[in-house]
Amino acid sequence: MYLLFSQVHEFEKPNDEAALNLLNSCSAAVLEEFPDIIFAYGYSDEYSFVFKKTSRFYQRRASKILSLVASFFAAVYVTKWKEFFPQRKLEYTPSFTSKVVSCASPEVLQAYLAWRQQDCHANNQYETCFWMLVKSGMTISEAQELLKDTQKQQKNELLFHKFGINYKTLPELFRQGSCLFKKKVEETVKHDENGNPVKRLRRKAVLVHSENIAARSFWNEHPSLYNDLGHFSKDIGRVEPDFVRSFQFENKLLPLTWVVVRIDGSHFHRFSDVHEFEKPNDEQALKLMNSCAVAVLQEFEDIHFGYGVSDEYSKIISAIASLFTSTYVIKWGDFFPRKELKYPPSFDGRAVCYPTYKILLDYLAWRQVDCHINNQYNTCFWMLVKSGKTKTQSQDYLKGTQTREKNELLSSQFGIEYNTLPLIFRMGSSVLRSKEAVAVENGVVVSGKKLKREGEVVVDHCNIIERGFWEEHPHILSYS
Ligand code: GTP
Ligand code: MG
Repeated sequence: MYLLFSQVHEFEKPNDEAALNLLNSCSAAVLEEFPDIIFAYGYSDEYSFVFKKTSRFYQRRASKILSLVASFFAAVYVTKWKEFFPQRKLEYTPSFTSKVVSCASPEVLQAYLAWRQQDCHANNQYETCFWMLVKSGMTISEAQELLKDTQKQQKNELLFHKFGINYKTLPELFRQGSCLFKKKVEETVKHDENGNPVKRLRRKAVLVHSENIAARSFWNEHPSLYNDLGHFSKDIGRVEPDFVRSFQFENKLLPLTWVVVRIDGSHFHRFSDVHEFEKPNDEQALKLMNSCAVAVLQEFEDIHFGYGVSDEYSKIISAIASLFTSTYVIKWGDFFPRKELKYPPSFDGRAVCYPTYKILLDYLAWRQVDCHINNQYNTCFWMLVKSGKTKTQSQDYLKGTQTREKNELLSSQFGIEYNTLPLIFRMGSSVLRSKEAVAVENGVVVSGKKLKREGEVVVDHCNIIERGFWEEHPHILSYS
C-alpha cells in the first residue's frame, strides 16, 4: 500500500524526511495513548511497538490489540498530514496492516529488534545505491542488475567512488531508524486562583537514534526499557534463522469458510458524549459510519468476503480497521461541518470464520436482532430521561419489559409509533455491491439520476433476517 501511496504523494527517494517525521510523530502519539507500550522502533514505512511483559491490555487478545493500534495510528496519520505536508493534499485514504509477534524471553525480543534494525541497514543501503544509480541515468533494471548479490562493503565503495558519498555520514534517521520510549515530564496543566502553576506528571515520548538498539549498552542506558522489558544478557551479532522464521509466522484463517470481520468503535460512549451526538441515534454519525463502510468495500474490491478464501487474519482486520478509521477522520467535516473533531477515534476488529451459509445468515440475523433490541431500549430510555426521569429511574422502569410493552410505552406516553421511526435506526445499515446499474451519492441510491455502472457500492436498510432478501440478492453471497 505504502509504495503506491508514496508515489502518488511524490515522497523523496530513497528517504523522505517529512514522511519519516510524520510516522515518528504518529508513533509518539501511539506511545502516549497506550500506557502499556514501552518502546517503539521504526524505519521506512514500518513501526514495531513493544508492550510491557505484564500487560493485560484487552486481555491480551491479539486481534483487538493489533487492529486498535493500526486504527489509532491511521487516525493520527491523517490528522497530522497537513502539519508535515502543508502544501500537499492527501490524495487518498491510507491504511496500515499490523501483526502481533510474541517474544517469550528478553533474548527473543533482542533478536527481533536486531532483525528489524539489520533490515533497516540493508534496506537503506540498497535503496541509497539504487536511487543514486537511477538518478545518474541508469534504468531501473540496469541498477537492479548492478546491485544484485553485492555485499555491504561493495555498496559502500560504490557510493564513495561513484558518487563521493560516505555512507556513514548520511543522516541517522535514514541509516539507523528511530526509537521512541517514554520519559516522565512535569507539565503545567493550569494555574490555580492565586496564579500558581498546577503541575502534573506526564509520560512523554522521546525520540532517539542509536547504532544498535539490540545492544546491551543501549538498553542499559534506559531504565524504563530494562525495568519493563527485561535485561539483555549478552550482545548478539547475526540473528538465528529459526528466530526469523518464528517472527514471520502467519496465522491464516480457516480455508473454505465465510470470513466475517467485525469492527467496533473504541470507547465510543465517551466519543459520542464529547462530540454531543444526538441520543439515542445521531443520523449524521450513522451516515458517517456508513460512508466509511462504503469506502472499505470500494477499497478492498479484491478481498472476497465470500466462500473459500483465506488470508492472514491480522492483515485483514488491521487493514480494514485502519482504512475505516482514516476515512472517518477525513470525512468527519462532510458530515459535521460545524463540529470540530476533538480527538482521533479508533476502532478494533476481529475476524470469525463461519463454516456454512446457514450459520452465516444466523450470525447476520443475530446482529440485526441486536440492533433492534438496542434501538428500542435506547429510544424508550432517552424519551424517559428527556421527560424528566433520572437515568436510574429510567433503567428500573424498563427492567424486564418486553418488546410489546416498550412499544406501548412509546405510543401511549410519547405518541411515538415505533414502526414509523427511520429504518436506518431500526434496521441498521447493509452495505453491498448492487447487481443492477444504479445512481448513488455517498452510498445512497438516488432516483431520477443518470445510472452508474453495476457493482456500485450502496447502502440499504433492509431486513436481512428474512429469507426473501437473500433470495432477491443471490449475488452477494454467491459461491464464486
Ligand atoms: P468499548 O467498545 O468497549 O471500547 O466501549 P464503547 O464505549 O464503545 O461501548 P459499546 O461499544 O458497548 O457501545 C457503543 C456506545 O457508543 C453506546 O453505548 C453509545 O454510548 C455510543 N453511541 C453509538 N452511537 C451513538 C449515537 O448515534 N448517539 C449517541 N448519543 N451515542 C452513540
Ligand atoms: Mg465500542
